[in-house]
Amino acid sequence: MQIHNFSAGPCILPQEVMQQAAQAVIELDGIGLSLIEISHRSKEFVAIMEEARQLVKDLLNLPDRFEVLYLQGGASLALLTAAYNHLPQGGKAAYLDTGTWAANAIKEAKRLSEVDVIGSSKESNYNHIPTGWQVPNDAAYLHFTTNNTIFGTQFHAMPDAAGVPLVADMSSDIFSRPFDAEPFHLIYAGAQKNMGPAGTVLYIVDKNVLGKTGRDIPAYLDLGVHLKKDSMFNTPPVFAVYTSMLTLRWLKGQGGVEAIEKRNAAKAAAIYGEIDRNPLFEGHATMDSRSTMNATFRLTDDTLAEAFNNMWADAGISGIKGHRSVGGYRASMYNALPLESVEVLVEVMAELERTKG
Ligand SMILES: Cc1ncc(COP(=O)(O)O)c(C=O)c1O
Repeated sequence: MQIHNFSAGPCILPQEVMQQAAQAVIELDGIGLSLIEISHRSKEFVAIMEEARQLVKDLLNLPDRFEVLYLQGGASLALLTAAYNHLPQGGKAAYLDTGTWAANAIKEAKRLSEVDVIGSSKESNYNHIPTGWQVPNDAAYLHFTTNNTIFGTQFHAMPDAAGVPLVADMSSDIFSRPFDAEPFHLIYAGAQKNMGPAGTVLYIVDKNVLGKTGRDIPAYLDLGVHLKKDSMFNTPPVFAVYTSMLTLRWLKGQGGVEAIEKRNAAKAAAIYGEIDRNPLFEGHATMDSRSTMNATFRLTDDTLAEAFNNMWADAGISGIKGHRSVGGYRASMYNALPLESVEVLVEVMAELERTKG
């Protein structure tokens, strides 16, 4: 039976990418050796790293001042790395508190300097993107999380920070839509949603604004150190980088982020259409803040949970249990998830109404 994988991350990747990645573990491109047993300094792997970096620049149409790194430590370390590289000694930064990961970013930045939390939706269990805030003009940057994986909310437009540079965690919606990188100083994203397997984190770095915080930065956390070494300061996570490169090649073949954005919009329209139509379901996120990547919803009558859980499991649906801090269900619809999988879920929701409503 076909499995419909709605997992929040790690998550579904294109089938052809997994086949190519599996093959490369056996033997890379006919060289008689596995991807994971060759030197990261070999010409084969250096070419892979360069292609993986270039694809990011091409797909996101990045201005020349940006460089691309594939590092380790996940997005969790990137929350701290961002502050180390951009929050000046004695300075302050503005943060938007839109969910668990945004709150973690605030916690990490507070280790280093003053943090001004200018907007939060914590009081309503992060069910919307806060509005009506102002960025102090002495802030070094505004940090925000473009997509809140757990709560299913998303910035539909990048925030206007009135000239203050932007720093963003794009872990769960990078490569899902085009955006203008011009106002950014830094973007980071864990690979394990729209890019590849867990094990690497992507950094998109404005190379002109590093080295200005007055801090003594530990070598691995210093983005300038990694830039000088072309993302090879130490042994990179070769499998995660290679598989990310394959996914980005796949994305390019699909027509790039503009094409995938349309498909993501169709998937989101299908699931939210059913949540709004079907009286047995209600959404967690407010309509104006709904994520195209993670749809969070619950039953209006909890006594139907057992029936619904059996029905979606019987239909081959996997990974839609909500995060414990929200409850209910979460359908994650990353780039590689086909529309047909969403249609299967929508049909199960409609069937629940027909049989139990
Ligand atoms: C938006 C966001 N930021 C950060 C993280 C943490 O990522 P990692 O597990 O790579 O540290 C996650 C994980 O799901 C996430 O969704």
